[in-house]
Amino acid sequence: MKILVTGGAGYIGSHTCVELINAGFNLLVYDNFSNSSRQTLKSVEKIVGQEIPYIIGDVRDEAALENALIGCDAVIHFAGLKSVGESVVKPLSYYDTNVYGTLCLLRAMQKLQIKKLVFSSSATVYGNPEFLPFTEKHPLRATNPYGETKLVVEEMLRDLYVSDSTWAIMILRYFNPIGAHESGLIGEDPKGIPNNLMPFIAQVAVGKREKVSVFGDDYPTKDGTGVRDYIHVVDLAIGHVKALQVLNKTQCTAINLGAGKGYSVLDIIGAFNKVCGKDLPYVIMPRRSGDIAEFYSDPSLAKEMLCWEAKRTIDDMCQSMWNFQIKNFKGHEV
Ligand code: NAD
Ligand code: WQD
Repeated sequence: MKILVTGGAGYIGSHTCVELINAGFNLLVYDNFSNSSRQTLKSVEKIVGQEIPYIIGDVRDEAALENALIGCDAVIHFAGLKSVGESVVKPLSYYDTNVYGTLCLLRAMQKLQIKKLVFSSSATVYGNPEFLPFTEKHPLRATNPYGETKLVVEEMLRDLYVSDSTWAIMILRYFNPIGAHESGLIGEDPKGIPNNLMPFIAQVAVGKREKVSVFGDDYPTKDGTGVRDYIHVVDLAIGHVKALQVLNKTQCTAINLGAGKGYSVLDIIGAFNKVCGKDLPYVIMPRRSGDIAEFYSDPSLAKEMLCWEAKRTIDDMCQSMWNFQIKNFKGHEV
């Protein structure tokens, strides 16, 4: 089975390429390298010991997608823009890449009669929790343009399935992916100042940044700091392989990919302290605008439908991130 992996050179895409190859799939990466590079695919090649075919292309280029899709059986669609803050400043870019890009992909797939798709959605589609843990039945309500683009695409996919029930679509709602491949060859490498907690902590640990800013310690959580459901990126990648394996049945199903446990910002700093062997300095800052106090998944549908559950611990997540950080960025730009 040959899989077109859009955004396959990115953080989650590159880890998924490794697991796809491990599971015996053929793949073709389609990426414009706007937030990644050829180097990442070379690292994937090193891990799996074989060449990774790729096309440099944009998901908004329908004709190029049609060519890329020839001979493919299914698509995993990672390509997109993912920064909540940037989406508030540049909403049209987000609608263009995430919504129009997906529309182009779906049209190209329809033309070639390729009707199996795994789509990267996000827990952000749930908005402020009405209850926790989030089940897939929780009402959907985006609270920023990035989340809105994910929600619009989800709705587009549900409408498509209603119009043509021969499609097989898995919408995967990721919680907070962190960590890196155990080889230390691939991982999350944000450009500039990291927006997300884990890469920021790792950069403090390696000496690239002075201290961690903890955004708020007055939330109604166990220690006052924000609580999230962190999931190891390798577990997440394996979830995609499992999703592909159930795409022989026509459907349009949304599934949470989370670990089902909440950890606070201070829990994560504490866990990272253990793996890097020092107490990382941090400072309490005001809450970050738009943040939710606490959310975590009910992962039982994934267990039931995909026979998948997150196996790796918070310590594994921190250890692998630290390994990636010291192997790749020790002392750079200090
Ligand atoms: P990433 O930025 O590392 O990977 C995205 C990849 O898509 C990059 O390689 C980038 O070059 C490529 N890309 C971007 N625009 C493109 C375009 N127009 N044409 C072709 N390629 C393009 O991001 P990631 O963390 O790996 O996220 C992958 C997907 O998962 C995204 O759709 C993201 O919204 C979603 N997601 C991510 C998270 C997270 O916390 N990382 C959480 C939930 C959902
Ligand atoms: C985690 C916790 C912060 C940075 C985002 C997107 C979401 C999804 C995953 C794509 C929060 C706190 C953070 C820092 C901190 N992406 N924090 N200091 O906001 O839960 O989710 O990434 O779909 O849509 O919104 O992740 O890592 O930014 O924050 O104290 O320097 O860490 O307040 O409680 P978030 P995050």
